[in-house]
Amino acid sequence: MTAPEHAGPRPAEEREALLRMPGFGSLWSDHMVTARWTAGDGWQPARTGPLAAFSLHPATMAFHYGQTIFEGLKAFWRPDGQRALFRPGDHARRFARSARRMAMPELPADAFLAAVAALTRIDREWVPQARGHSFYLRPFMIASETHLSNRPAEEYLFAVIGSPARPATAEPAPIRLWASPEYVRAADGGTGTIKCGGNYGGSYLAQREAAEHGCHQVVWLDARERRYVEEVGGSNLFFVEGDRLVTPPLSGTLLAGVTRDSILRLAGRLGLAVAEAPVTLEDWERGCRDGRITETFACGTARAVAPVGHAVTPDGEWAIGDGGTGPVTRRLLNALLDIHYGHAPDDFGWLH
Ligand code: COI
Repeated sequence: MTAPEHAGPRPAEEREALLRMPGFGSLWSDHMVTARWTAGDGWQPARTGPLAAFSLHPATMAFHYGQTIFEGLKAFWRPDGQRALFRPGDHARRFARSARRMAMPELPADAFLAAVAALTRIDREWVPQARGHSFYLRPFMIASETHLSNRPAEEYLFAVIGSPARPATAEPAPIRLWASPEYVRAADGGTGTIKCGGNYGGSYLAQREAAEHGCHQVVWLDARERRYVEEVGGSNLFFVEGDRLVTPPLSGTLLAGVTRDSILRLAGRLGLAVAEAPVTLEDWERGCRDGRITETFACGTARAVAPVGHAVTPDGEWAIGDGGTGPVTRRLLNALLDIHYGHAPDDFGWLH
């Protein structure tokens, strides 16, 4: 590892000024946690130190064969001044599942939890206070062995970095989705259920196509028939049919989103019926046109809940409801934020 980007913690005044500017993923807190694994010695104790660039050999295996996985989780500022991590155990378990699928070593859940807690503690002043703002933690692991053999690496680097997330608007604006007829995100037996870097890099061409059609994100269809709606960009998708909430089932190609699971549980508490059921693009369009589907929203850790205003295909486009944010989407978003920020009791035991 080489020298830190900025030596030592930033002065409080500079930090406060930075925290007032909106942004996601471009501002870093002062520290990071790292741990190394080798085939001979297993996991070495994690180390918390200043945020620093890595120095890696050009033949580092992650650069060539893509053994990289990550998580995204958030810490929130509570009314009592404490900082709380949202469902870190669920992120730890998913990180282990991602590692297993990529033939990488599993980091024990307690080591994952200790690492994210250590970074949140040491960089607690980087957790923004405003509702809707958060400290986004990015744990990740890469194959760090220097070798060009086409096989699982025998050395890995785990790290956690943190980035304050400050959305520009209090309420997310409705998004337009492009249903790509050509590209797919995941197929049966592939890596769609986990968070590996390639799932994201492989989506950018379709994302560019979405932008060319005036859309914010891609809505992914199943690989086999190109009929069933699966995910949106890097998020899960929900449909509102009156007081029923429908989301595609975890069929083996979808990511089991922690926010998806939270919404399913919160929905029951808000008196909504929930169903995990396949939805075709055709059902979605017909449902919106005949008024059965009144709202659609995407959800994920980074974005929380984002209303979908319109869907676009090569054959045309349709509005969902009036193209704005519907009442059920807003209620679910607020119910989730109330728990994040300690404005509602944490009955599910999600905060750590
Ligand atoms: C998250 O919601 O944490 C994600 O994984 C999205 C990220 C790719 C920005």
